[in-house]
Amino acid sequence: MTPQRESARDGERLQKVLARAGLGSRRVCENLIAEGRVTVNDEVAVLGRRVDPDRDRVLVDGITAVVRDDLVYYLLNKPARTVTTAKDPQGRRTVVELVPSEPRVFPVGRLDYDTEGLMILTNDGELTNLLAHPRHGIEKEYLAEVDGVPSRDAIRQLREGVELDDGRTSPAQAHLVQDRGASSAIELTIHEGRNRQVRRMLEAVGHPVRRLVRTRIGPIADRSIDPGQWRPLTRSEVRSLYAEVGETGEDAEYGEYGEAEGPGADDPSD
Ligand code: URA
Repeated sequence: MTPQRESARDGERLQKVLARAGLGSRRVCENLIAEGRVTVNDEVAVLGRRVDPDRDRVLVDGITAVVRDDLVYYLLNKPARTVTTAKDPQGRRTVVELVPSEPRVFPVGRLDYDTEGLMILTNDGELTNLLAHPRHGIEKEYLAEVDGVPSRDAIRQLREGVELDDGRTSPAQAHLVQDRGASSAIELTIHEGRNRQVRRMLEAVGHPVRRLVRTRIGPIADRSIDPGQWRPLTRSEVRSLYAEVGETGEDAEYGEYGEAEGPGADDPSD
């Protein structure tokens, strides 16, 4: 069968699509199919199955494995003084203006006008909803420059939970990373998404925020992107986000599939 014929109405062989997505060699991917670990549109796939990578929903162990070619994912380093809504009635700069306008994308979640740091924008509505859902409690890490230097007790309060006007916060990770006397830097990792949560937590323990930067969203971190700049997420980063919100309840690691040695191995988008 010629490649032309193969990619026409019959679709492409599933193992080829999986291999191209970086899940391993075609042989490794055939084994995944033979072991019944691959579903296409909620049905367990059998060897010989063909798929349309733009339409079919391909999961391995219940987690999205093949990222559709028509979906785009940008990782933006949001600068301060930028809103995260798609439009601003006051005409302020929006995050959407900082990434390509076509196809139209939307920010995943929010950051305050003055908060800087990582933000994902995408046209993948499913991932957006999964990441935003409080049930998944995706970890977000922030670096905050605050007034003064929090005491051990203040750090303990941040870790154990702080009483805010909308209730006590869940346990968080908090570390003093720099002591400059009049100010300090705190790394705070939370998995709730309440309005202005980090600012309110730090204010509540007596250390108002001077500057706030988000440094990680679940498995995604990158300190090399300049403010206002973006890069596409790699396919493996997108898969790692899906794995983070995977519904299987298992730790989803793709390492077990072995070294990628097939056509996906040198996929430049990975
Ligand atoms: N917490 C805040 O206080 N502000 C943000 O922008 C994000 C988290």
